[in-house]
Amino acid sequence: MAKKNKKRPHIVIGVCGSIAAFKIAVLHKHLRDHADCTVAMTPSAQQFIGAQTFLALTGNPVITSLWEPTHTKPKHIDLADELDLLLIAPATANILAKAATGIADEPVSTLILSCLPDEKPIVFAPAMNTRMWKNPATRANVKTLQQRGYHFIAPDTGDLACGWQGEGRLAEPEVIAKQVLALL
Ligand SMILES: Cc1cc2nc3c(=O)[nH]c(=O)nc-3n(C[C@H](O)[C@H](O)[C@H](O)COP(=O)(O)O)c2cc1C
Repeated sequence: MAKKNKKRPHIVIGVCGSIAAFKIAVLHKHLRDHADCTVAMTPSAQQFIGAQTFLALTGNPVITSLWEPTHTKPKHIDLADELDLLLIAPATANILAKAATGIADEPVSTLILSCLPDEKPIVFAPAMNTRMWKNPATRANVKTLQQRGYHFIAPDTGDLACGWQGEGRLAEPEVIAKQVLALL
């Protein structure tokens, strides 16, 4: 009998500054049996959940800054080479705007720009207030990104943390995991 030695896929999760950031800890629970995960965080994401949580859950260093004195090579380039799928969740209106215009000024946007959508799947799972989601600027950014081959996991309609009811709630972690794993 041959020994199974299949390499596990590597998913990098870019976490952004949304109240839904804590749900990524739950999402990891649904991914961990199928893939190794590394988390990168925007500075705003770090206002919502600590890097230590993701370090403990994933067992991998969390990328919180582009400026890490222990990295001999740019970490975002290494990660972009290594990863099998880049998931941005929760994706803020801001990160969609940055991705659509090519801005790279912190770890998550820099990772997005360092990957090409026709080489590896890049998936956005947005979460935001309904007005932000329906804003013509966000609509245009989503359309641009979809036309360029980026994948989207549509937000749900329901109760939002800001007190609103409407479209913009992060899709359930289980649903995100299912769709992401199907793309690997
Ligand atoms: C309490 C709170 C909750 C927020 N939730 C969201 C959200 O769910 N989605 C969003 O797009 N922006 C949200 N924002 C605004 C973003 O944090 C802000 O636009 C920030 O600049 C995003 O930075 P990032 O995209 O680099 O993470 C929230 C802000 C606050 C103060």
